[in-house]
Amino acid sequence: MKVYITRPIPQNGIAMLKKEHEVIVNPEDRVLSREQLQQAVKGVEAIVSLVTDKVDGELLDAAGPQLKIVANYAVGYDNIDLIAAKERNVLVSNTPEVLNEAVAEHAFALLMAVARRVVEADRFTRAGRYKQWEPLGFLGIELNGKTLGVMGLGRIGSRVAEIGKSFGMRVVYYDVKQNKEFEQSIGAQLLSKEELLKAADVVSVHVPLVESTHHFIVGKDFAIMKDTAILINTSRGPVVDENALVEALKTKIIFGAGLDVFEREPELTLGLAECENVVITPHIASATTEAREGMARVAAENVLAALAGKIPPNLVK
Ligand code: GLV
Repeated sequence: MKVYITRPIPQNGIAMLKKEHEVIVNPEDRVLSREQLQQAVKGVEAIVSLVTDKVDGELLDAAGPQLKIVANYAVGYDNIDLIAAKERNVLVSNTPEVLNEAVAEHAFALLMAVARRVVEADRFTRAGRYKQWEPLGFLGIELNGKTLGVMGLGRIGSRVAEIGKSFGMRVVYYDVKQNKEFEQSIGAQLLSKEELLKAADVVSVHVPLVESTHHFIVGKDFAIMKDTAILINTSRGPVVDENALVEALKTKIIFGAGLDVFEREPELTLGLAECENVVITPHIASATTEAREGMARVAAENVLAALAGKIPPNLVK
């Protein structure tokens, strides 16, 4: 059967698929236009898609009725219209677990960079502005003893909570589900969204993007956060109202933010890049060799299962 992979992914996954199927990989290492993608998937039984590919009814129809699975090379799948897939009996899978560590560590990389103003200080030093040691220069914030607020205690959020704990942070969380076992294991406390925003020194967002989490954090939320608070977002950009965030950063009603995702990716909201108190990375939280090879393996396992008539291990419902 035919498998189409919309961009080159690590070879381990491609090799697994090639053992059993004809695999076509987009030879150009760039996002295809909608027309090119529609053309490319015609007649295939499986598509390995990326977060940058919009998978909707039109694309599924362009592929044709033989299509069995769309295996998203990502844990998030807000780029896929699940209803359209269901209507056409197309299975959808994702790549959970294998990127937990990479994303959680990146959330902390951003957090440390913001708290200790690493990027700002790097720019300063490179510009030749380091003339003498400053007793009051680049004062940052220590994490030990502070409160970490985890928004969304899923697989990644709970790993972030554990890392926070190892930094000596008190962990509070907000989630639609209480997790008593986890609370006991690291002494975390469930709060309402508002209580968390008020109490946290660091708010790290780990909710999936669904209708109810679109603009989950808006202007009034920044207003109740501490003026020393840091926001970290490694989930999906539209979860945060980016205009309101730029305003909060400019007026310093929060200390800073670390963002790996943006509301209108790859565009940045006007003014964001000019803020000194934000550290921004181009959606690379899962970009470790370990995670990306894991994602390639998991995506391949899902395709192989579906094409063998089995239920893919990471079926998205
Ligand atoms: C990346 O953003 C992912 O969802 O895996």
